[in-house]
Amino acid sequence: MSDPVLSLRDFRVSFPTLNGTVQAVRGVDLDVGQGEMVGVVGESGSGKSVTFLGLMGLLPKTTIIEGSAKIGGDELVGRSSKEMRPVRGQRIAMIFQDPLSALNPVHKIGRQIVEMIRAHQDMSKGDANKRAVELLDIVGIPQPDQRAMQYPHEFSGGMRQRVMIAMAIANEPDVLIADEPTTALDVTVQAQILEVMQRIQHELNTAIVLITHDLGVVARVVDRVQVMYAGRAVERGTVDGLFKHSIHPYTRGLMESIPALGRERLVPIPGSPPNMLQPPPGCAFAPRCAHARPICTAEIPELRPFGAGETACVRADELAEEYTNV
Ligand SMILES: Nc1ncnc2c1ncn2[C@@H]1O[C@H](COP(=O)(O)OP(=O)(O)OP(=O)(O)O)[C@@H](O)[C@H]1O
Ligand SMILES: [Mg+2]
Repeated sequence: MSDPVLSLRDFRVSFPTLNGTVQAVRGVDLDVGQGEMVGVVGESGSGKSVTFLGLMGLLPKTTIIEGSAKIGGDELVGRSSKEMRPVRGQRIAMIFQDPLSALNPVHKIGRQIVEMIRAHQDMSKGDANKRAVELLDIVGIPQPDQRAMQYPHEFSGGMRQRVMIAMAIANEPDVLIADEPTTALDVTVQAQILEVMQRIQHELNTAIVLITHDLGVVARVVDRVQVMYAGRAVERGTVDGLFKHSIHPYTRGLMESIPALGRERLVPIPGSPPNMLQPPPGCAFAPRCAHARPICTAEIPELRPFGAGETACVRADELAEEYTNV
């Protein structure tokens, strides 16, 4: 990969609380290149959202953020909220699961996009209006000039998500973070939104991070996947590599729980994610892992090259044999 646009190194986020410190993100590395779409996958509470809210400076003031998060080589960790303001929107933008909460119900869609453009660019109202209509067109909204004159409640959920994408790309950010953008939508609309994101990836050459708990969603669109558990990356690789040769028992557990046509039953991963006030020692997945041995809890396993990807399981070699012998 040429120089990554987004680069995290040993990125950490913790929340001081009355009961102690919640260690939500515990040393994550991630690189995303220009025009690349990377999926970040994991169960609820694995630290997916907090990682990206943290690097965008969108968490409470008391949050402790450590390590490194760079956009185009510029460090974001340690910036004041004032210093972060021009970065958000212009260099990195984020869309969320619930577009309605992010849109202002009393302003027309077009006006909201115009405001987004003019907050970052010196553009006349007339030009920004034209650009807003163009953006609605890019994200696949029919009759964009008329739609721009309507209010959020006149849009369906899928259309609102398209509007959010239009606003997110309004200032041509280098990086777009999409946090569960399709979770609230039915499968047909879900597929359409993913298509829009792919178009943006290819036509605008944007680096995209797609966050989801659903491996099935990422399988269709992303180039690479990073699997998170208890605030760390436990496995990563290409979609193909991971689906065919994943080693980490957690990734394999996630795959077993993907709904698939004709599959007899879904197998949820037994147990539940750990309390991040006191993450378990060593591999945080060990308490739920059918393959765990005493060695697993000795120290936190680092990602290391395995097959075509990287895995953070100390028993990777043994497991590879076990899996092929079944
Ligand atoms: N403000 C906060 N104070 C304390 N703990 C927090 C705070 N925000 C998040 N957490 C904790 O951080 C951990 C990671 O949360 P995060 O929202 O990143 O999970 P997620 O992987 O995005 O899950 P989901 O799939 O449910 O969105 C969780 O244990 C959560 O309870
Ligand atoms: Mg989340």
